[in-house]
Amino acid sequence: MAICSFSTLLKEAEERNRAAGAFNVGSMEMLMGVLAAAEERETPVILQIAEKRLRHSPLELMGPMMVSAARAARIPVAVHLDHGSTPAVLRQAMDMGFTSVMFDGSALPLAENIKETRALADEAHARGVEVEAEIGVLGGSEGGPEQRSVCTDPEEAERLASASGCDALAVAIGNAHGHYKGVPKLRFDVLEDIRRRVGVPLVLHGGTGIPAEDFRRAISLGVRKINIATANFDALTSGAARLLHEREDADYFALNEAMVQSVKENALRHLSIFQNR
Ligand code: 13P
Repeated sequence: MAICSFSTLLKEAEERNRAAGAFNVGSMEMLMGVLAAAEERETPVILQIAEKRLRHSPLELMGPMMVSAARAARIPVAVHLDHGSTPAVLRQAMDMGFTSVMFDGSALPLAENIKETRALADEAHARGVEVEAEIGVLGGSEGGPEQRSVCTDPEEAERLASASGCDALAVAIGNAHGHYKGVPKLRFDVLEDIRRRVGVPLVLHGGTGIPAEDFRRAISLGVRKINIATANFDALTSGAARLLHEREDADYFALNEAMVQSVKENALRHLSIFQNR
């Protein structure tokens, strides 16, 4: 059984000065492509699905598939609920065997973010499930309205991490969900300050479009989990579009293979960077 907690993966990443790739999936082909890449690279990986995407990819279908794929994988795989906020959804993921859940309290005042993350962490830890928290506002959108980025306050990050009992902390340092308008300008000075104050592994959301040298610098400053969603969804659709452009008569089976291969290539590209190779 290869399913494991994200802490195991993030600890190993810390020891080897790497980050674990956390890829959002919305279909069987995406999941197969990510796992094929991780198995080829013999590197652990995190499969995740965001609460906002459950309208298109229902948890009752995706969840069991993610957990059973993780159990059957030849490499360690963590299964994570990304950007959870609804108690019933967080519990449903835990019931299904997800190894971690994120409570996104970033829109709440600090005291409330601490209180709600703490309550979830107590419940999750009692069930052997880990928790990612978030502080600061990421730019862009992940299925909801566009947000203006607000950098994490390092002192607030310290308070949330120590008082909530979270196992990993997502930070906002100029990163954004979706496609960046121009080249992202990450605040490495803020990241460094957060790193000095926070003991748990740091998570970088909004991985799509961040240049390789910025990923490497973030990893050197303590980022241990990097989320990739948009690039993974784009890889699926561009793989399908390419095939249908080349072969109008393509059947589902050819389409399935083209989508898996395209997602695999995207995951391979990111995993090489995250492994510091
Ligand atoms: P991107 O869609 O920008 O890759 O962000 C992914 C993410 O942070 C998921 O939580």
